[in-house]
Amino acid sequence: MNFNPTTELRHLAILLLGSLFLGWLLNAVSLVVAITLGGYIFWNLRQLFRLYDWLKNTSPTDPPNSHGLWGAVFDEIYKLQQHQLKYRARLKRVIKRFRDSTYALKDGFVMLDREGNIEWWNPAAEKLLGLVSPADVNQLITNLIRDPSFKDYFEQDNYEKALELPAPINEKMTLQYQIAFFGKQERLIIVRDITDLKKLEQVRTDFVANMSHELRTPLTVLNGYLETLSDNSDQMEPMWQRAVASMRQQTERMKLLVKDLLILSKLETRTTAVNSGLVNVNALISRIHKDLKPMIDEKNQSLLIHSESDDQLLGNNEELYSLLSNLVVNASKYSPPNSRIEIKWGTNTTGGTLSVKDNGIGIDRKDIPRLTERFYRADKGRSGDSGGTGLGLAIAKHILINHDGRLEIESTLGSGSLFTCKFPFHRLQTPPQTAAIS
Ligand SMILES: Nc1ncnc2c1ncn2[C@@H]1O[C@H](COP(=O)(O)OP(=O)(O)OP(=O)(O)O)[C@@H](O)[C@H]1O
Ligand SMILES: [Mg+2]
Repeated sequence: MNFNPTTELRHLAILLLGSLFLGWLLNAVSLVVAITLGGYIFWNLRQLFRLYDWLKNTSPTDPPNSHGLWGAVFDEIYKLQQHQLKYRARLKRVIKRFRDSTYALKDGFVMLDREGNIEWWNPAAEKLLGLVSPADVNQLITNLIRDPSFKDYFEQDNYEKALELPAPINEKMTLQYQIAFFGKQERLIIVRDITDLKKLEQVRTDFVANMSHELRTPLTVLNGYLETLSDNSDQMEPMWQRAVASMRQQTERMKLLVKDLLILSKLETRTTAVNSGLVNVNALISRIHKDLKPMIDEKNQSLLIHSESDDQLLGNNEELYSLLSNLVVNASKYSPPNSRIEIKWGTNTTGGTLSVKDNGIGIDRKDIPRLTERFYRADKGRSGDSGGTGLGLAIAKHILINHDGRLEIESTLGSGSLFTCKFPFHRLQTPPQTAAIS
């Protein structure tokens, strides 16, 4: 309905003028005007009551019939109502589609409010976590997944890494939890069943560990015979001398490989460093300096040590020795004669940093992210010459993981590399000050 305010005012003016004229004719102006205004107010009140009755009605009906200003008001409200109904229907359709799609997923989804209370979940989450509807609605998630590591993970607010834990309803199942923030600090938990993946990983680790273990005996026997043969190589023809030397070299390499694989599988089956004690990092560096001096001197390289802290590291001495020696051996192996290697140990309020820097051949940018993979060699040709197995950095990475640390690699091809081991602050300990004897 088209509403024109001028027409409405004109009608009101005509009504007033009409009543004045009638009042003048009847000689009762005040009375007629008062009756007219009373009638007008009464009519408006009636329209208001009709509007109220109509709005009170929960099921939407057509608006009451009216004209003028009230007709326009009824029409506009009706239009708004229709618009809202359409919007609500569209929202319902979207929610239904979202629910249908999450119902079809194998991964569990749990929606939480800002306080961590459960608001909604899909059937997969019900199956994986054993949630019960409606009893678990509005329950704190940490009351339902009671594992302390989940509580720690949930409360830390940094969900970059996923968390793996046995399922609360079945110890044999492994679940992976990933949390994401949405809206106003609300959280969404995505739960994935990774039991099969874990089993496969276990099979692979067991296979490598068993194979390496089984290979040790035949290799020792082979190596023993080859050693005896090479001790008597002067009685052999030159062709056989070369063959035996080459066989010895290869069995030595295999022995190294088996040794490294066994170390790696031992490190993989643990998640934290065993035999943890306080490691004097400066003493460790001196030991490495002494042990690797012959190798470094052979290439006429120099080894510089910068010790900026006396802080000790909570960890496993032999594992940390293996970590640092792997890095220093690499620095020497992948640097030309007369080059320089630097070892640095420093600490601050964020943690400890142990780094090895060289000015050797460097590493191509594309290879850096893959260096800690097993058997990965940046330059297969050159690394092959140096007799490496490609397991050194994989071992280094696992040792660091077990010490809550991480490895950072910076390198420029042709200019050198910097390998930095970062340790968290909670692994550091300042040694007690010894009183000076006068
Ligand atoms: N300081 C370095 N400079 C240049 N390249 C390096 C350096 N350290 C490692 N690399 C590259 O990274 C690869 C992987 O190193 P890693 O220590 O894992 O294996 P490797 O030295 O070949 O063998 P292994 O240490 O098992 O005897 C090396 O083959 C080499 O290409
Ligand atoms: Mg190496």
